[in-house]
Amino acid sequence: MSELILEAVNLEYSYPDGTSALRKVNLQVQKGERLAILGSNGAGKSTLFMHFNGIYRPNSGFIKYQGQDISYKKQDLIELRKKVGIVFQDPDSQLFSASVWQDISFGPLNLGLSEEVVIERVKQAMLDTETTDLEDKPTHLLSYGQKKRVSIAGVLAMEPEVIIFDEPTAGMDPRHSHEFMQILEKLSLEGKTIILSTHDVDLAYSWSDRLAIMYRGEIIAHGLPGELLTRPEIVKRADLTIPWLIETHTELVKKGWLPSSAPLPKTKTDLFQNIPAKSGQQSA
Ligand SMILES: Nc1ncnc2c1ncn2[C@@H]1O[C@H](COP(=O)(O)OP(=O)(O)OP(=O)(O)O)[C@@H](O)[C@H]1O
Ligand SMILES: [Mg+2]
Repeated sequence: MSELILEAVNLEYSYPDGTSALRKVNLQVQKGERLAILGSNGAGKSTLFMHFNGIYRPNSGFIKYQGQDISYKKQDLIELRKKVGIVFQDPDSQLFSASVWQDISFGPLNLGLSEEVVIERVKQAMLDTETTDLEDKPTHLLSYGQKKRVSIAGVLAMEPEVIIFDEPTAGMDPRHSHEFMQILEKLSLEGKTIILSTHDVDLAYSWSDRLAIMYRGEIIAHGLPGELLTRPEIVKRADLTIPWLIETHTELVKKGWLPSSAPLPKTKTDLFQNIPAKSGQQSA
């Protein structure tokens, strides 16, 4: 049975300059799910995320964690941030210690864990993010993609219940993006709740259990990725594009290569498996 872990209720937020960034945003996050927030530049994804662990306070509406409205008292926010971790879009907002090791260990040290546990967690987070070789490097000398991976390691080492990644793969090379998806896989298997924002429709489609599409401060659609991203009117309205897997599948159905009953492929492997062998040839 699904269990609600995090919720935004009628969230409204305007920046001090008057920009209305969130308009009546309602979103429910189930424990253990993979939720992608898809939206073009300026849609409000980062602003929404800043509300999830109390960095921003809404003008109206509220955030609930495990059924309770979150409290904005300093001590309560510290407690909340142990459970809801955010990897910021801009790694420079996250990294502030002199060296990579110091940065990743900062969070776990503040949890009051023993030195051995801190060392163990930092080493594991470094292995997962392939940052072990960067251990002694000053954070300000890292490349952008390396900074991204170190900031991810810092949040992983805290072992929060809900992990929010704001544009995690932006600036990562293909191999490290792939490795990052493996980290997400591992976290999901551990039962973590993962929220990820992206403008990458292919990533959102293949990875998520559920999708919310934002446009100009509103959630204009939410539901199953295969149901939302096959609807051109939604995709167009949100300034997005149809994922290549869905486009290819649709084209193959149109040309008669696939029966219209063929299931939508979630991955490249699914798509290739759906395509029948040429007549006269045995399929492997
Ligand atoms: N500090 C700020 N002051 C004023 N307006 C802001 C500020 N930060 C963001 N905004 C505005 O709020 C809106 C939502 O921005 P936000 O950064 O949440 O979008 P986003 O979906 O994360 O975009 P991106 O994909 O580019 O990261 C935009 O119109 C943006 O210009
Ligand atoms: Mg953003």
